[in-house]
Amino acid sequence: AQPLRLGIAGLGTVGAGVVQILRKQAAMLEARTGRQLVISAVSARSRTKDRGVNLSSYAWEDDPVALAKRDDVDVFVELMGGEDGPAKAATEAAIALGKDVVTANKAMLAMHGQSLAEAAEAQNCVIKYEAAVAGGIPVVKALGEGLAGNEITRVMGVMNGTCNYILTQMEATGQGYNALFAEADKLGYLEADPNLDVGGIDAGHKLAILSSLSFGTQVNFDGIELEGIQRVTLDDITAAADMGYKIKLLGVAQMTGRGLEQRMQPCLVPATSPLGQLEGGTNMVVLEGDAVGQIVLRGAGAGAGPTASAVLSDICDVARGYRSPVFGQPAETLKVATPALSQRP
Ligand code: NAP
Ligand code: HSE
Repeated sequence: AQPLRLGIAGLGTVGAGVVQILRKQAAMLEARTGRQLVISAVSARSRTKDRGVNLSSYAWEDDPVALAKRDDVDVFVELMGGEDGPAKAATEAAIALGKDVVTANKAMLAMHGQSLAEAAEAQNCVIKYEAAVAGGIPVVKALGEGLAGNEITRVMGVMNGTCNYILTQMEATGQGYNALFAEADKLGYLEADPNLDVGGIDAGHKLAILSSLSFGTQVNFDGIELEGIQRVTLDDITAAADMGYKIKLLGVAQMTGRGLEQRMQPCLVPATSPLGQLEGGTNMVVLEGDAVGQIVLRGAGAGAGPTASAVLSDICDVARGYRSPVFGQPAETLKVATPALSQRP
């Protein structure tokens, strides 16, 4: 079989992690997919930054759109981030040429996933996004493939590693969340704009994607009742602990008689429950299907290795010719107002 030629845009935490696996595991990946996975060209803002990986044998493009259009690129791997801008422009350029796209960019997908998926379908190519939700946990595949025979009744969980790390470290160390930003950053958890993390927006993006996959609805980020962790105080955490609870940024999506209900809010969970015991950058996603019952997936939700692992699974799927689960159709969306923690009397 012909080698699969990759163009990788974005060489930060995730991009460098992907290059590292492609170099280290080249023989294993070829054996598993039956094709050589070759990096043709890469792109980032700085050409000179040390990224801890050897990039000397790859062509360089300053412009990610030019990278996506290169004749020696079969698959465009978008690892820059950002809802619009170069990530979207380059993804659209790749799709317009009928090239498959692999991305970790939940912000772009939550806002433009529907139109990008439709464009890809029209061009007979795929856009794959396992890394966009819950880092290393293969939840997109679980929903799109493993649970394909189920009507999904509910999806819930902790989907932002930064918030989970900050909340658990606040309790463990007594530090405020501003002080813990630097540590989360060192671990590679933070979005380029950390307000997306602590504001619950990043987790909301992920919930919107999971809802669409679960219920066959259009991706609807604006339909989420959303609150981040900025107003959670040390006093809240201590009071919760005294009562035997932990505070988690919890997302829930379920189909009700009145439409799709989606919320992402700080919640009290029993300290001894699996959710209560979730620490650090770990994520947990609970899926409920009418035939299978409850499935619990737990693992690293952020960071270089876990996220690169998910990107590689998509690249391998493309190499094998597997097609992607697509986003769903429009449905009534219901914003459900529930009393959030910070609004308690
Ligand atoms: P990052 O460390 O900030 O890396 C972003 C990369 O994109 C950098 O290499 C940057 O170049 C490059 N870039 C930004 N703007 C560019 C432009 N205009 N042209 C060319 N290159 C550009 O981000 P990350 O953490 O790797 O995240 C990348 C994507 O993965 C995001 O969509 C994020 O939401 C998603 N994701 C991240 C994680 C995680 O744990 N970090 C997990 C799941 C999904 P320079 O290096 O030269 O600045
Ligand atoms: N900033 C995100 C998080 C990265 O903390 O979960 C993984 O999507």
